[in-house]
Amino acid sequence: MHSVAAYRDHFTAYLESKTRIKDPQNLYAPIHYILSLGGKRLRPVLTLMATELFGADYRKALDAALAVEIFHNFSLVHDDIMDAAPMRRGQPTVHEKWDINTGILSGDAMLINAYQLFENYDPKMFRSLAQLFSKTALEVCEGQQYDVDFESRDDVSIQEYLKMIEFKTAVLVGAALKMGSIIAGASQKDQNNIYEFGRNLGIAFQLQDDYLDAFGNPETFGKQIGGDIIENKKTYLYLKAMEKGTESQVLELAHLYSIKPKEPLGKINTVKEILLDSGAVEVTKTAIKHYTHTAFEILEKLQLPLEKKGMLQDFGKNLMRREV
Ligand code: IPE
Ligand code: IPE
Ligand code: MG
Ligand code: MG
Ligand code: MG
Repeated sequence: MHSVAAYRDHFTAYLESKTRIKDPQNLYAPIHYILSLGGKRLRPVLTLMATELFGADYRKALDAALAVEIFHNFSLVHDDIMDAAPMRRGQPTVHEKWDINTGILSGDAMLINAYQLFENYDPKMFRSLAQLFSKTALEVCEGQQYDVDFESRDDVSIQEYLKMIEFKTAVLVGAALKMGSIIAGASQKDQNNIYEFGRNLGIAFQLQDDYLDAFGNPETFGKQIGGDIIENKKTYLYLKAMEKGTESQVLELAHLYSIKPKEPLGKINTVKEILLDSGAVEVTKTAIKHYTHTAFEILEKLQLPLEKKGMLQDFGKNLMRREV
């Protein structure tokens, strides 16, 4: 086994060796741009790590890891168009730097490229990986549609929100791990348990992302702070504030989430105050811990030595502490 940092370095070197800008430049330069901006590389690291946890050489999983990371970056390029986001990883988003059409087409090419990478596996493995990938990618689309639909609805339930984030975010974390277990030839039971571990960790991860979107440090977060508030995203924070807030807090929040002011700073600050004062922030932090611990409980079912489970647990703990 290697350290998380070592997996990240091996992966980044592989990614750099596989991504070249060719003609037409306006198709491939944005792809190179977004992939070179880095990010945490969580999902490909999980694929490589799972492969070795279940006893195979991580190098067998580099193409699957690359597919997962390219798919993730594709989803970010299109997500930033849908969320009207100006900044990603501390730099202008693709549609800001180029334009919306460029973001759409470069994103499409990335999705196809991701799928193509599974062709490097033998037919039986190709089928298993492509099947999981297609199912996951469709669920991400469903999650993204719910996310957009919820912006203009005022009756979203916590249950609906949890399903939405499970689909838009958590299933890909589960699939990244499951791909590693498939490549290593793990038992069906272990494949399913590692997926469930990732799915629960992914839910905690998206809750944390929602928290950081409002309360992250603008110097380091890399995305526009308050972007979700500007877009009237029905996050866990918002839903809990509507549930727990005083009558006047609820009225004010509902009003603020029915408008899109040109100058949003006042709205952002008032919403953040309500999220804090209503206790929604505290409840969200508890929920992040809850889903992380559920993930840890699933670890116990895995047929792996304790030391290997410890690596996955450390990964989860670090995610909970993250600031970016
Ligand atoms: C951002 O994912 C999109 C979400 C699912 C919240 P990451 O936070 O993993 O983004 P990068 O790849 O590290 O930039
Ligand atoms: C992103 O959710 C989920 C996908 C990209 C599929 P967000 O919209 O919260 O992600 P960020 O905050 O822009 O990274
Ligand atoms: Mg989004
Ligand atoms: Mg977004
Ligand atoms: Mg977000």
